[in-house]
Amino acid sequence: MRVIIEPTYEKMSKWAADYVAKRIIESNPTPEKPFKLGCPTGSSPLGLYKELINKYKAGELSFQNVVTFNMDEYVNLPEDHPESYHSFMWTNFFFHIDIKKENVHILNGNAKDLKEECESYEAAIEAAGGIDLFMGGVGPDGHMAFNEPGSSLTSKTRVKTLTTDTIIANSRFFDNNLDLVPKQALTVGIGTVMAAKEVLLVCNGHHKARALQHIIDGEVSHKWTASMIQMHPHAIVVCDEAACDELTVGTYKYYLDKERYNLI
Ligand code: GLP
Repeated sequence: MRVIIEPTYEKMSKWAADYVAKRIIESNPTPEKPFKLGCPTGSSPLGLYKELINKYKAGELSFQNVVTFNMDEYVNLPEDHPESYHSFMWTNFFFHIDIKKENVHILNGNAKDLKEECESYEAAIEAAGGIDLFMGGVGPDGHMAFNEPGSSLTSKTRVKTLTTDTIIANSRFFDNNLDLVPKQALTVGIGTVMAAKEVLLVCNGHHKARALQHIIDGEVSHKWTASMIQMHPHAIVVCDEAACDELTVGTYKYYLDKERYNLI
């Protein structure tokens, strides 16, 4: 695992965007062999999306041959609701780049048969040849997508019931009214993310420090589901200084040294 420690949220976002752009460009994607990108929502990746948009606008990067699969979506929230993950993705990313609408995949939380929706989503990922790079954020309780504490670490896309912690955390998007926060979501599983060729998580802020400590320094645990990335051969966590507040000094220094010496 690589852990990239950047001084600020802006620098963390820039590092992550540079890396994603590099991967897309290097893969030389075509309509026949597109680059498959896994996408998160949340406040953490906003800066990363902003930087990717800047690269597109500067003519450095095209999404013409990029196919995306989003991580999750609320159940029973209308697609055009301002807080749906459909709205989030189009508002904050897709409307500003040259991605083709048919290349965007987001789970339908209003599908009649949610189980069927999840199974066809997994099948679509497989049919596309798997995800090349899954980007992700982390919840304060260490969850990835909506894989709440206690989730199976080999899980695939399915319906999940949100924990009270997550409902409270996400109530900030719903007028701080817990009753308005959907109680269930469709989410890719930890196994779905683990099947990607690469995983890149962004994690910022002191409120994520405990989660980061468990993910990097703790044991692999279904209580902190993102800790499973320790088992991934190509996982990168990009974080800011504030998110490192709970790491041991040894761990913090090791990851800084590792990046420094790798450059020699
Ligand atoms: C939600 C999303 C996650 C996201 C998490 C953290 O639970 N389903 O994908 O990582 O929120 O969000 P934020 O980045 O806003 O802290």
